[in-house]
Amino acid sequence: MKFTALTAAALLAAAPAFAGGPDDDALVINGDVEMVSKADAPAHLDGALGDKVISGWHYRTNETQALELDDFDNPGMIFVDQALDQFEVVEGAAGKSCASCHEDIESFAGLTAEMPKVNEAGELVVMEDLVNTCRTERMEAEPWKWSGAEMQGMIAAIAHQSRGMPMNVAIDGPAQEYWEQGKEMYYTRYGQLELSCASCHEDNNGNYIRADHLSQGQINGFPTYRLKQAKLISKHNRFRGCIRDTRAETFAEGSDEFRALELYVASRGNGLSVETPAVRQ
Ligand code: HEC
Ligand code: HEC
Repeated sequence: MKFTALTAAALLAAAPAFAGGPDDDALVINGDVEMVSKADAPAHLDGALGDKVISGWHYRTNETQALELDDFDNPGMIFVDQALDQFEVVEGAAGKSCASCHEDIESFAGLTAEMPKVNEAGELVVMEDLVNTCRTERMEAEPWKWSGAEMQGMIAAIAHQSRGMPMNVAIDGPAQEYWEQGKEMYYTRYGQLELSCASCHEDNNGNYIRADHLSQGQINGFPTYRLKQAKLISKHNRFRGCIRDTRAETFAEGSDEFRALELYVASRGNGLSVETPAVRQ
């Protein structure tokens, strides 16, 4: 066996028998908003994750879980509130705010559950694209940085309007070629450790890697508040971090590769409630 394969095997050593698996707690926010945090696995997975897809919330400690159970305790909500203020702020040469054209952010309810999606021009677009198109073309303002606080705050505020709705991204028709590309990436082994997304999040979810309890790597709670980084994290930032952990060169946030990967990963969570903003370690 090669050294790299040995290292990977050691990294993914199975957890002691008492430690594995997601828990059976219920994810009910503010005592009344019930999340579907375990759902029947979409048919396209062909049983790769067993019969259920499971929110990352079920793999976290009780302390971390508790922060998502009440919006007053959820540190991600501060950024959602800031974005609601930002929605009203006039910026750019056109002299407009988001609210000048989109009367109420609630009008975006349902949108996040169907993102990413293919636009009329046949391009795969993610939420960051939609927001920056409005900023540059309609407000004539500077685009926001992909993983910057303004961008991820706004995306969280938009996603929050869909909280509780089931993820339902299209994978057929014009989306299919992008979905196939994302799927291929998901199973590609990267880096010196020769690990794919699937090596960790499919073959080893429920096991420990160092001190981390591996989940299915779902994105239904993004942008997610990460305690470690004390801010909202974008999906592409998370992908970068995961690939970097395999000691590989990674793709850029906003790259076409990560757009396709985002579509594929989102589709693995079809049926799970949008949880944004989720709280993770
Ligand atoms: C000058 C008017 C205007 C401004 C200002 C504007 N938008 Fe838009 N926005 C539009 C139009 C027109 C569309 C495309 C038609 C539609 O889907 O509503 C759109 C589309 C969107 C969409 C996609 C909606 C969908 O269903 O696909 C999002 C999300 C969005 N805007 C967010 C924002 C945000 C956030 C801001 C402020 C940073 C903003 N917009 C500022 C006019 C505007
Ligand atoms: C070396 C193992 C490893 C590999 C390979 C890996 N990840 Fe991860 N990933 C982790 C760990 C550890 C975490 C944090 C614990 C968890 O949620 O699973 C994580 C977390 C995530 C999360 C956040 C889940 C949540 O609920 O917030 C997503 C999304 C994710 N990974 C996607 C990916 C994708 C996509 C790939 C392939 C490009 C990938 N990961 C490759 C180890 C890995």
